[in-house]
Amino acid sequence: MDKLRIVGGHRLSGRVEVSGAKNASLPAMAASLLTDQPLLLDNVPAVWDSSTMRRLLTELGAQVTNDAPHRMEIAVPSVRSFEAPYELVKTMRASVLVLGPLLARHGRARVSLPGGCAIGARPIDLHLKALEKLGATVHIEHGFVDVSTEGLHGAEIYFDNVTVTGTENVLMAACLARGETLLANCAQEPEIVDLAKLLARMGARIEGAGTRTIRVAGVERLQGAEHRVIPDRIEAGTFLVAGAMVGDEIEVAHCQPDHLTALLEKLTEMGVDHQVGDGRVRVEAGARLRAANFRTLPYPGFPTDMQAQLMTLLTQAEGTSLVGETIFENRFMHVAELNRMGAHIRLDGRTAVVKGRTPLSGARVMATDLRASACLVLAGLVAQGQTLVDRVYHLDRGYERIEEKLARLGAEIERLKQ
Ligand code: UD1
Repeated sequence: MDKLRIVGGHRLSGRVEVSGAKNASLPAMAASLLTDQPLLLDNVPAVWDSSTMRRLLTELGAQVTNDAPHRMEIAVPSVRSFEAPYELVKTMRASVLVLGPLLARHGRARVSLPGGCAIGARPIDLHLKALEKLGATVHIEHGFVDVSTEGLHGAEIYFDNVTVTGTENVLMAACLARGETLLANCAQEPEIVDLAKLLARMGARIEGAGTRTIRVAGVERLQGAEHRVIPDRIEAGTFLVAGAMVGDEIEVAHCQPDHLTALLEKLTEMGVDHQVGDGRVRVEAGARLRAANFRTLPYPGFPTDMQAQLMTLLTQAEGTSLVGETIFENRFMHVAELNRMGAHIRLDGRTAVVKGRTPLSGARVMATDLRASACLVLAGLVAQGQTLVDRVYHLDRGYERIEEKLARLGAEIERLKQ
């Protein structure tokens, strides 16, 4: 397993380009199952999760080609298999995104149940309940969910809890359902809006994506389309935190600043100077960072995927900060590792109490999920001495060559291949 070796204490400066959003690419790729014509996707990040989705689609019968880096053409003239196997779902929960499209165009799908993961239980009950309302029959047996239909029809659906992939799955299915569907209490993430734009290009009739209520008028068939995936707001946010911590001046380019509002507000509150431009944000380290409280919420609230990274920054701020995690019940696995590096963080249920400012010292650390790994890399940048981050495959799932991008900004960081 590869490791990252970081020697902390270097100042960062220069320009870093953000890749396409992993969490927008995955549903966009899954949408290829909705039509027999090709989808041409641009700005697809070269991360493991995109490769896993590509493998899954190929197993289902897709022909996938790359004519340039980050460009992917996916065509599914016919489906060879209806099954998302355990091996793929266990490495990437977002495999569940094939459920809605397979069901809508082919009448059946079989997906291994994702079960728990490092950050919480993460069931898919809301996806299934909504698909049943659209006319699907759901059977759970041997760890798989089998979903079939004689034909989907429009329905009124209320999500009990805001779910991102749940909204995406049901939105894709509703596009090919007979009649009108009303989705209430939807996720409003930019990735939902991006998916709706792609679906509209494919011929879907959707109103309200990006708000709590989405209306879909079903169509008989969808066609091929071209689409450029939005920039990754979590990768952008991770570089902004790096800049706020050890930046002389960093320009985070190719990002969409209006997707970063909750984070930028917190950075301002903490005393971090930044300027927002067209598709870019410039940031430099605050001379004296102030403590701040935040809690994670569905968009436009503070993203849970940025919680660990901002917590690392809070260890460098004067005073006590409170961090509430409301989305996932077990997303504080990084706290023990940050404490091993010298942080003073105490857990009180779903709140972390961060006492700053604490100097960090390099250590051998590892994380159990993607964003927690990112926070340890950030901690390594500010720590004294050497940090070895183990299990880099977590990072590779969602960050494109993070060590190369940070090295170009002046960080002392390298990948140790094993
Ligand atoms: C997506 C993102 C992930 C992000 C998360 C929250 C992708 C590929 N992944 O994950 O990076 O951290 O949104 O912003 O886009 N829940 C249920 N039943 C369900 C579905 C969800 O109880 O059927 C619960 C989950 O356990 C969790 C909460 O709802 O507590 C939100 O989860 P959800 O928005 O579905 O997360 P994902 O879509 O899996």
